[in-house]
Amino acid sequence: MRSGFLWFLPVLFMMVSLVSGAESDLSKRRVPDKQIKDIQKLKNPFEASSENIAKGEALYQTKATCFTCHGKEGRGDGLAAPGLDPSPRNFTNAAFHAMRTDGELFWVIKNGIPGTAMMPMVGSVITEEEAWLVLLYERSLGRRK
Ligand code: HEC
Repeated sequence: MRSGFLWFLPVLFMMVSLVSGAESDLSKRRVPDKQIKDIQKLKNPFEASSENIAKGEALYQTKATCFTCHGKEGRGDGLAAPGLDPSPRNFTNAAFHAMRTDGELFWVIKNGIPGTAMMPMVGSVITEEEAWLVLLYERSLGRRK
């Protein structure tokens, strides 16, 4: 009988909300105050051509491993996301993109965010050039509906 296990839905919801954290405050800057002015000025050396965005997507979905946490479609819902607190950033949120320059996002990919699952990726997993390409893809997600 279908209604037999409906009671379980609120229980399931409570369990899920207990183990998965929320996204952290968007207004909190990641780059230390001392560096922020210089970092904000950094420009992506690659143009946002469809070819470069495709290269970035190919990296995101494979070698760069971003998809495991940020999700195949960048919604912050990857396989490793449940249980992470704060949860991985949702790259389809236009407000997120509006609040960060390319330089700030590059800095995070390079240095990670201490105290979170966001590790430094440049050097260990991808090169600086690959990070800029991945970033083109990440930015394109914020423009999709
Ligand atoms: C092991 C899980 C994990 C992987 C793999 C991962 N991330 Fe993250 N990422 C996170 C989490 C968790 C946050 C949220 C941290 C916070 O809110 O402080 C985050 C945040 C970010 C942010 C936003 C920082 C900000 O300014 O708010 C960017 C950009 C980012 N990740 C890019 C990437 C890219 C690009 C890759 C692949 C090269 C990647 N991440 C791989 C877990 C991960």
